[in-house]
This record gives sequence, C-alpha cells and structure tokens, in this order.
Amino acid sequence: MNLPEHIAIIMDGNGRWAKKRLLPRMMGHRKGSENLKKLINDCDALGLKHITFYAFSTENWKRSEEEVSNLMDLLREYLNDHIKNEKDNNFKIDFIGDMSRLAPDIQEKMLLVKELYSSHKGIFVHIAMNYGSRDEITRAVRKIADEVAAGEISPSEITEKTITDRLDTQGVPDPELLIRTSGEQRLSNFLMWQLAYSEFYFTDKLWPDFRIEDLMKAVESFNGRDRRFGGRNEVK
Ligand code: IPE
Ligand code: IPE
Ligand code: MG
Repeated sequence: MNLPEHIAIIMDGNGRWAKKRLLPRMMGHRKGSENLKKLINDCDALGLKHITFYAFSTENWKRSEEEVSNLMDLLREYLNDHIKNEKDNNFKIDFIGDMSRLAPDIQEKMLLVKELYSSHKGIFVHIAMNYGSRDEITRAVRKIADEVAAGEISPSEITEKTITDRLDTQGVPDPELLIRTSGEQRLSNFLMWQLAYSEFYFTDKLWPDFRIEDLMKAVESFNGRDRRFGGRNEVK
C-alpha cells in the first residue's frame, strides 16, 4: 500500500458525539482530544511523515463563551500533558494559525512543547489552532507587501513559491489526502492553498470514534484514485 507523506484531518463531530449520548458538548471535546492523542501514536507507528489536524478555526470564536473557554482549557491540559510526558512521545509537533490571539500562557506552552519535541525522530504533527486559510493567506500577503515596500523584492519577482514560503506551513509538503469526519463535506476555511490537488475523503464516523482502521480505509480509497494533476495518465 502506498502511504501518503502527509495527511490532513478535519476533526469534526465532537458535539454530535456527545449529543447522541445526552452528554454536555464538552465531553465530546474531551473524548476528541483523547482520540487525537491515541491516533497520533498509531500514525507514528504506521510510518507517516506528516499529519495536520484542524483543532480550532478562526470562525470557532463565534461559539458560546463557555464552549470557547472550555476548549482553551482543554488545550492547556493537552499541552501540559505533552510537557509532562515528553519522554514517552516520539513525535515532533508544531502549530499553524495565528497564535497572537491566544492567551499568553497558551502561547508560551505551545513554544515550549515545540522546542521540547524538536529533537524527536517520529512523525511531524501539525496542529491548526486559531487557523483559517483566508487569514493565513492575508498574513502572507501582508508580509510580501512589507517586503515590496522595503525594496527587498519587486512585484514581478513574486511567484507561487513566494506565497508558499510565507504561509504557516512553510517547508511542509502539501497533504496528498484530506479526511473530514462526521459527514460534512466542506473545507470550513482549512488549508485552501495547500489542498489544491489533494484527494478528499469523507466519512460519517464522528471524530471521537475515528480510529487508525478508519484512517487506513481512507488510505485504501486514496490508493484507488487516479491523480492526474491536470495532465493525462493514459498511454496514447
Ligand atoms: C469539532 O467538533 C471540534 C471543533 C470544531 C472545535 P464540533 O464541536 O464542531 O462538533 P459538531 O460539528 O457540533 O458535532
Ligand atoms: C471545522 O469544524 C473546524 C474544526 C474542526 C476545528 P466546524 O464544526 O467549526 O465547521 P462548520 O461550522 O461545520 O463548517
Ligand atoms: Mg462541527
């Protein structure tokens, strides 16, 4: 089986998972976070190189104050756990998205975890936190405009690579496969530049129920796809 180098996952359906069990939404998020930890270890064992998870979007601030604050507390817990158990984990980790809107203690923990895990040899995990593709592209455009204004590059020198190199995902290969759980079939502002030629896989499984076996089904489906990139694969 041909394993993609990079898989991106939209972890959706925590709320519905809880609702089905008549539990508060927060319990769904908690289960979702536990599932994330487990799946990362399973993916590391599988030999994937990169995996990106959508954890909180720039639009998720629209949720109730209570839910947002619960999610931020869960993130704190998640980061603390990573700091405490650094020795038991083999993966590398970093974060994409605009960190500046997150609480200062969260930003510090993120930087610490990234640093602590930087010498690890396993899978590279990228967590999208306060991430929105439009926001990411807007920030990249602003950087380029600053460079043009400073006379460092001229507008005619701007290429696709100029943009790619100023995104949060700089240096990371584009995901070959995108998975979204919970039955929704939309991007919700996730990696729009990077997913230009990726294969999409949608499953009805809710995120807290999504296991490595489900990921393997997605990889199997990916293996059956004819990726043409605008060209033709048939022999004339
Ligand atoms: C995904 O689960 C987690 C986040 C977006 C933070 P949801 O909370 O969106 O779950 P549903 O879509 O309401 O079931
Ligand atoms: C997308 O899920 C964002 C994350 C999974 C973090 P949402 O539940 O926020 O997306 P919509 O609102 O259904 O598009
Ligand atoms: Mg949702």
